[in-house]
Amino acid sequence: MPTVDNPTEKTLAELGVNDAQGVAEKFAEVRTRFDRQVAFDADEIRSLMLHEAWLGSDSDPVTSLRNFWVGRKAGVLTLITENWLKKSPPSLKGVVGKQFNELKTHIETKLEEQRKRIEEKTEAAALNREQVDLSLPGVIRPIGSHHLIRQVFQEIEDIFFSIGFSIVEGPEIETPYYNFEDPVRDDMDTFYLELPPSSDKKAAPTPLLLRTHTSPMQIRTMEKQKPPVRVIVPGKVYRRDNPDATHSFIFHQVEGLAVDTDITFCDFTGTIDYFVKQFFGPSVKTRFRPSYFPFTEPSVEFDVSCIFCGGSGAAAGGGTCSKCKGAGWIELFGAGMVDPAVYGFVNYDAKKVSGFAFGMGIDRLAMLKYGIDDIQVFFQNDVRFLRQFP
Ligand code: DAH
Repeated sequence: MPTVDNPTEKTLAELGVNDAQGVAEKFAEVRTRFDRQVAFDADEIRSLMLHEAWLGSDSDPVTSLRNFWVGRKAGVLTLITENWLKKSPPSLKGVVGKQFNELKTHIETKLEEQRKRIEEKTEAAALNREQVDLSLPGVIRPIGSHHLIRQVFQEIEDIFFSIGFSIVEGPEIETPYYNFEDPVRDDMDTFYLELPPSSDKKAAPTPLLLRTHTSPMQIRTMEKQKPPVRVIVPGKVYRRDNPDATHSFIFHQVEGLAVDTDITFCDFTGTIDYFVKQFFGPSVKTRFRPSYFPFTEPSVEFDVSCIFCGGSGAAAGGGTCSKCKGAGWIELFGAGMVDPAVYGFVNYDAKKVSGFAFGMGIDRLAMLKYGIDDIQVFFQNDVRFLRQFP
């Protein structure tokens, strides 16, 4: 490594200086060297440090340079004081002192200037680095969409809005009373909640369950509202079913209820027929078969002509239609005229009012309309499935 001797480590006598001119020359030499170094920026100083012993070795090059020149212990100015000034012959003291003061002022001023310069440069570089380029493309966040079930809910809601129904929603945790207690269903396919014992030890707590259908809102609505009633109830329902292609322990329903002073069976079938044609298209046919539900009398099961084979029961390529198994009809949902006994529970006059109710499975309707053959895909939320219904 090429090194340059530092003359301030020696006395003037050792350097062979013995007159004012010699002093001036030595000071000029030191000053020239300083001026060269102080003109550098941080990186240049760093590389200079590798080649020149005239510099310190602090990790920060600017500090290193500073210590080398003005460090209290062994900086050049201290060395000059010790080796040149204090040890100079009395005849030269005045000259050395004057030269020293000039050099000291010069060095301190220039070091300060350098410090500012480097600081500004570093700051400018940082600002430059952090500059935001507004012309760059932004981060593209994928926009989500409604789940197919939500979309189907909306389709159904729109159809019923158009004929004067409004929406009500109800609790998913229900009492057996509102859930239309059904001894068979109660034990078989209902989730009961585990409840803490009531504070009054003797009284058993009212059992609570996850509603098995949206029908509880029939009673809850009529308790709150006088006729005429025209509502639909979209929501989640729960049953203790083992998951397979057509069963899930959680699924979705839309309940419907219309009660007024002049509602007939014809209004009932006409409403259902209108809904089904709006939902599946005008070419489908409907039919109903007698059935049983605890809150309707008469109760019916609505079927729709098979939307896959057009009701023929035959597959396009020959053989029987796999969807309706050749029947030409697909079971759609339960419905009926509200059992007059129900009105007794809600203080409606059974002699004056009549009405109909229906309850449909949304997952099933969505599967039929969009050709989906496994209900589980609605709950797996695989984006490859979801993206097909943006
Ligand atoms: N709640 C019934 C079920 O989940 C469906 C149903 C049948 C609802 C007849 C009704 C109705 O409102 O009148 O299977």
